Amino acid sequence: MIEDIIKVTPLVRLRTFLNNDVRIKLEGSNFYGSAKDRAAIYVLSKLLEEKTINKDTEIIESSSGNMGVALAAVGAQLNLKVTIIIDASISSLNEFLIKAYGAKTIKITQADENGSYLNKRLQAVREYIAEHENIYWFNQYGNPLVVEAYKETVGKEIIEQFPNMDYIFLAVSSGGTVAGVSHAIHEYNKDIKVIAVDVEGSKIFDPHTKKVKHFTGIGSSIRTENFLRAGIDDKIIVNEQDSMQALFSMMKDEQLFLGGSSGCVVTGTEQYIKLHNIKNKKIALISHDRGDRYFANLYSQNLNFISE
Ligand SMILES: Cc1ncc(COP(=O)(O)O)c(C=O)c1O
Repeated sequence: MIEDIIKVTPLVRLRTFLNNDVRIKLEGSNFYGSAKDRAAIYVLSKLLEEKTINKDTEIIESSSGNMGVALAAVGAQLNLKVTIIIDASISSLNEFLIKAYGAKTIKITQADENGSYLNKRLQAVREYIAEHENIYWFNQYGNPLVVEAYKETVGKEIIEQFPNMDYIFLAVSSGGTVAGVSHAIHEYNKDIKVIAVDVEGSKIFDPHTKKVKHFTGIGSSIRTENFLRAGIDDKIIVNEQDSMQALFSMMKDEQLFLGGSSGCVVTGTEQYIKLHNIKNKKIALISHDRGDRYFANLYSQNLNFISE
C-alpha cells in the first residue's frame, strides 16, 4: 500500500566539492523513481480525503516523463483512473512504465512552431476535459496543491536533514518543486539562498533564446503559474556539455547514477561557487531522479565522456 512506500530520501555528502560542505538529496530513491512521487502521493491522497475526487474520478495530466509515471503508479495504488497526455519525445521506458502501471495514454505527435509539444499537450488536456465528466486535472503547472506537496515533503525534510544550509540549488521546469521548497526554506530562514538551475535552450529565464535544448525534465518553453509562486534568490543557466560531463564525474567520483537535470544542478553549483568565490558554506542540491531513465537517450550517446 501507498503508506508503505513513503520514506525519507537520503542526503549524501559529495567528496568532490573540497571547499564547501555540499550534500545532494537523492529524490530518485522514491519508489517510482523521482521527486514527482511526492506530489502524486500527497495531492491525490489529500483530494480523496477531502472528497474533492472520488473513485470514479478520472485524473488527467500532461507529462512526458516522471510525473506521468508517478501518477500512473500512485493512481493505480489508490484505485483511480489515470490518463496521461504524452508526446512523441517521450522515452520508450517512460511510455512503457506509464502504460504498464495501467494508465491510459494519448500521444501528441505534432510539435508547435517552436518545436515544443507542451502547448499542444495542454490543448489536448483542455479538449479532453470539455468532452468528459468527473475529470480532475492534476495540473503540475498551476495547481497550488502541488506547491504545498513539495513544501510539506521534500522541503521540510531537507530542513530537518541539513538545518544549517546556506544555499540550496535545484532544477526548474514546471516550477512546483522550486516553489514548494523555497516556501519551506524561506519560512524557516529567509537568509538561505534558493538558486534555480536551468539549461540553455529553456525559455524560463531567457524567453528569446534561439538555442535548442535536448535534456528533458529541466527547462520549459513557458513560465508556469507555479514557477511564478516561487521565491528564487538567484539563478544559473548551464550548457548541456558541462552537464553531461558532470553526470559522468558523479559516476566516477561519487558512484551516483543521476538523471539529466541532476547533471545540470551539479555543474550549476560548481560554476556558481567559482563565480562567487564561495568557501566554507553548507550547500544542498536536489537531484530529481536516477540515471536509469536516461540511459538510452543521454548516457549511451555520450560514452566518450568515460575516461580511460
Ligand atoms: C528529472 C527532473 N528534474 C527536474 C524537474 C523540475 O521540477 P519542476 O517541474 O517541479 O520544476 C523535473 C520535472 O519534471 C524532472 O522530471
